Amino acid sequence: MPPLVAATIAPARRVAGRLTVPGDKSISHRYAILAALAEGRSSRSNYAPGADCRSTLACLGRLGVEILAGDAGAVNLLGRGLRRLRSPSEVLDARNSGTTMRLMAGVLAGHPFAATLAGDASLSRRPMRRVIAPLTEMGATIEAVDGHPPLSIRGARLKGIAYRPEVPSAQVKSAVLLAGLHADGPTSVAEPAATRDHTERALAEFGGQALVDGLTVTVTGDQRLQPQTLTVPGDFSSAAFWFVAAASLPGSTITVDDVGLNPTRTALLDVLRRFGARVEVQVTATHGGEPRGTVTVEAADARAVDIGPGEVPALIDELPAIAALAAGGADVVSRGAQELRVKESDRISTLVCGFRALGMDADERPDGFSIRGGRPRGGVADARGDHRMAMAFAIAALAADHPSTIEGADSVGISYPGFFETLGRLVTPRS
Ligand code: S3P
Repeated sequence: MPPLVAATIAPARRVAGRLTVPGDKSISHRYAILAALAEGRSSRSNYAPGADCRSTLACLGRLGVEILAGDAGAVNLLGRGLRRLRSPSEVLDARNSGTTMRLMAGVLAGHPFAATLAGDASLSRRPMRRVIAPLTEMGATIEAVDGHPPLSIRGARLKGIAYRPEVPSAQVKSAVLLAGLHADGPTSVAEPAATRDHTERALAEFGGQALVDGLTVTVTGDQRLQPQTLTVPGDFSSAAFWFVAAASLPGSTITVDDVGLNPTRTALLDVLRRFGARVEVQVTATHGGEPRGTVTVEAADARAVDIGPGEVPALIDELPAIAALAAGGADVVSRGAQELRVKESDRISTLVCGFRALGMDADERPDGFSIRGGRPRGGVADARGDHRMAMAFAIAALAADHPSTIEGADSVGISYPGFFETLGRLVTPRS
């Protein structure tokens, strides 16, 4: 493995500026996969530039989908139609991307050939039984290593099922729905709690149908998808780091334009208001079924925040950023967040070790963490190759007394290439 790159973060007086962030990772994966299953040429602009969404394109390429890069982040795909992907001659490498592996498992389950989905060391530790169980019930044959990647999938003529996942997971829901598009009869997923609904919205854009009734989504297998020209909004989960930086450094204001404002993704804005920040939101358009607009966050107060179990599914990718609010001076507690342990790293352990290394008072519990509010001393924090941890440590380090080093800083390329360059532009150093 190449040596990991470290970043140095100098203490900041404040952050200020107006910016856009790279295209949304979750939406980009779905647009790419649905475009591959549509019949004809689709085009997406502002496709997420991170490594994860490139992994999805690489897997689709190995399945016979023609992919042509266009101008300024545009990606054109020549879709093959449902059940028409080609048997791959090589392993499909999802690298660090759980979304690629789980969603592609759903697609491959409905194709009449054998394929293997593999990943890097981090992805190879992540639980896959949550997709293996429903896809097997639908008729696919899937072998794994004690429930972990690589996954060897032999697809089949699937039958629709009514599935009730034990954990709220948009990836599991989407894997089953994508398999459902290839199945005989209806397939439904009844979620234990609402998760991001990009698959449902994107499916409607591609001329398909997902029937939503409360927490239950149903698709049928007799659909045809039409190619589309779509623009991906900015990734709210990437903007989250700037919102937290603005909320926690006095005198700061950040405005992010053209950011995705899907209500299943924006729960952080309520947390920031509880913390005491001023938050303004303006929806300017809805395109591709996804609302988007402008968000401004301004530092005002710093009040303790306690994130309860019921809030976790809507904040699952924002909890590392929320932890960094503690550097703004208020206690941060998260409970019922055991899912964080099976992300790109064990995010509870990585987060508590990293915040302690920065000189903060942090405690770990099986299902969460608590961080005492206060200015960090500064130190050396290891992101353990996890992009969101690297960005959370960098934001917390802005409030520190001394410069800090973030090890594994290059991992930001998974979702936010250019994160550190943008940070340099937004920060006024403390001198
Ligand atoms: C994602 C869903 C979430 C999230 C991940 C992206 C998606 O995972 O953490 O970063 O695009 O569906 P789970 O659905 O497994 O919680």
